Formats: sequence, structure tokens, C-alpha cells
Amino acid sequence: MACLNPRFMVFLSPLVFFMSPLPLTTAGEFNEDEAKVPAYSLPDPLTSADGTPIKDAAAWRSQRRPELMQLFEQEIYGRTPVGRPPGMTWRTVSEKNDAREGRAVRREIEINLFGRDDGPVVRLLLYVPVRATQTAPAPVFLGLNFEGNHATTTEADIPLPKGWVPNNKGAGLNDNTPSEKTRGVQADRWLFDMALARGYAVATAYYGDLDPDIDDDFKNGVHAVTGKPQAGEWGSIGTWAWGLSRMLDVLEKESGVDGKKAVVMGHSRLGKTALWAGAQDERFAAVISNNSGCGGAALSRRIFGETVARINTSFPHWFTSGYKKWNGREADCPVDQHQLIALIAPRPLLVTSATEDLWADPKGEFLSLVGADPVYRLLGTSGLEITAQPPPDQLHNGPLAYLLRTGPHDVTATDWQAYLDFADAQLPAK
Ligand code: GCU
Repeated sequence: MACLNPRFMVFLSPLVFFMSPLPLTTAGEFNEDEAKVPAYSLPDPLTSADGTPIKDAAAWRSQRRPELMQLFEQEIYGRTPVGRPPGMTWRTVSEKNDAREGRAVRREIEINLFGRDDGPVVRLLLYVPVRATQTAPAPVFLGLNFEGNHATTTEADIPLPKGWVPNNKGAGLNDNTPSEKTRGVQADRWLFDMALARGYAVATAYYGDLDPDIDDDFKNGVHAVTGKPQAGEWGSIGTWAWGLSRMLDVLEKESGVDGKKAVVMGHSRLGKTALWAGAQDERFAAVISNNSGCGGAALSRRIFGETVARINTSFPHWFTSGYKKWNGREADCPVDQHQLIALIAPRPLLVTSATEDLWADPKGEFLSLVGADPVYRLLGTSGLEITAQPPPDQLHNGPLAYLLRTGPHDVTATDWQAYLDFADAQLPAK
């Protein structure tokens, strides 16, 4: 692998290789040379659209935050057209008190999002440290997974998802059909035992339960009920983010779980999703973006790695349809991704990058934190406190936290170590 260009390694990861509808790109088509980053200036998160400087928390809250939220809806992710459906119901369909060698109470909870027999059902897999069910409720990490709950664990009794799943060449899955072949294939990305040992609950669900990740004109998942998005409405990222909020509705009521300490997290496209979920839903106490890149934590104006045109071409269903108007025009878009980070302020946020993941622009991910820092400080936190990207494998902990991990686009034990250290230090005490 060492001889491969890191960009191609992104495409060669089994999941992405089969999900990208485009052929491999030609070398040199995308910039991965820092010297070729164009001069750019970032829109100021603390100057409102009419030019008024935002000088205090009250003006941020009443004026600038709503304005930025509306811009991100309009220009990038689309408006979320539904709240919590009045008919939403859920029930615990399995409970095991001695899961994971006695460390956890494991529950599976089926969330019928619209309370309809023919409507979408999300199956939430939840592990709670046994001690938390007896003493104080545990903080919880919540994130979507890519291949089904059964892929996050080797436990044999977690059922396969229903409907479309991504192919996985390494596991021999080639027909987009749920299969035992992928049981446990992502267990190295879901370090449940490590989190449980540190006193955290972890919850995950398959993103395809909400919206299968295919450009099929929004016919299935949640869209089978809500209909094809109107102009200005959500794409798949918005739909997945909405689903995370519905899962939080459930976690808030779960015994052993402290819903006031929920950390929404995600990797890659699901990292973009976690950021958008955290920006919109202020009940999330903290946010983790792992290698989220373009349309996530990375600044678009740097045009480094994946570009807006490229993401809108490869994945036309992820964003609101109007995002395409910024293809090749990143500098004209009224917002950039540091302002998405600012929408999470003052709640703690950890951004992780990987040294070989140039496609996601690690430096651009860090610079988003630099750009959001004035908002974090205006809101009374210590902000980022650094201006240079820290060396690899050293977590910079704080309300704006950052890790550049050595290695490729992935989720590893080093990342989980950082998630846990971040959560230990940054989650509110009460
Ligand atoms: C592709 C895509 C990225 C995305 C990644 C993933 O590489 O270009 O934007 O983050 O897939 O979700 O794995």
C-alpha cells in the first residue's frame, strides 16, 4: 500500500470503492498540494449579512445564529421539513443483561418513525455499562453506521438490516443485499468495550434504515413517507441528521442513559451528518467529526482534495439540490464550513483528521476550528487556544478539540482514545 497515492487509498477502501458511481479520478485532477491552495478570505462568523458586527452572546443568539442556520439550510444541507412525527413510537425488542462478557446491558430498540405499519423503522443498538443501570446514568455516544448493526459487532444474534446495503468487496458482498458476510466487518471501528470500560454507553443504527445511500430520486426510507424533497429541502445528510435527533428522543427516556450528555459522532459522510445534526439540535451536548472532509469540517474555499463540484457529482443526493450552484464557485458561497462549526458553539466539538486522508483536507479541517474560535470565545469558552495544527497523534483537548491521527481514512483505537479523553474533559459535569 505504501506506493499508493493516499487519494487512491480513499477510493480503494472497500466501502467507498463500491459506492462511488464515478470511475477513479485521473492523477492531478484534484489539488493536494498546499502550495496550490488559492488565496481566499473566509466570511466572518461575527459579521451579520447586513454588515452589523456581532458583539455579544445575545446578538449571536438572536441575530447571527439564526441567520447562519438559514444560510446552511438554503445553500448546503436543505431545510429539514419535519420535526418529531406525532405518531412516532418505539419499543425494546431485545434486552440482554450480560452482553459483552458481562460489561453491558444490551438493548435493541425499534423506532417506528411515523408510527405506520408501512413506514420506516430504525433499529437502534444500545450498550449501557452495567454499573450505569445500577448507579448514575451514563453519558452516551450516538452515531450511525455504514453497513448494518450486525457489522459493528461479532455477536451472532444481532439481525441483518433490511433493504439495500452497500457492497463490500473484501467481504465478498456484491449484490447490495444484506448478508452474514459482513457480520463484524466494522467491529474495529466500534470499540464498544473500550467505551463501556470508561463508563460510556454507545448507541448506533444503520444509516440505510433512514435513507439508503443511493441516488434513486428519494423513493425509499423516510422519503417514502415525506415525499421527494422540494427545492430547498434536505438531501440524505439532512435525513440522516434528523434520524439522529429521533434517536436522541428515545435515548432521553432510556434507563441507564444520561440524555443530557449525548455526544453525536460520525465518520466521513456520517461525520458531515453528525456536524449538521449537532448544529441543528442543541440537545446534543457535544459533537465528534471523524475525517468528515468536504461538506463536513473542511473549508471549501481551500479547494484542497474533494471539491464541491466533485461531491455534488459523485453523490448528488447528499445535499440540497441548490448546493450544485456552488460547483466551482466555492469563494462565492455566502458560508463556509467554519461557520457550521460555529453553529455548534459553545458546545464542545472534536474534529479528527488522518495524515493520509488528503481527500478530506486535514489542514482545512483544522482551519475550520480556527475560523470558529471567535464565536466560541464570544460565548464564554476558552475556544481553540492554538493557531497551528498540532503534530500527529497528539490530542489537543478543549472545547474545540483536534486530533491529526497517523494513517488513512478510517476509525481506529487512537481515534476512540481521543473521543473518550475529549468526552471525559469536556462534557458538562451536570
Ligand atoms: C467519499 C466521499 C467523501 C466521503 C467518503 C465517505 O470518499 O468523496 O466525501 O466522506 O466517501 O463517506 O466514506
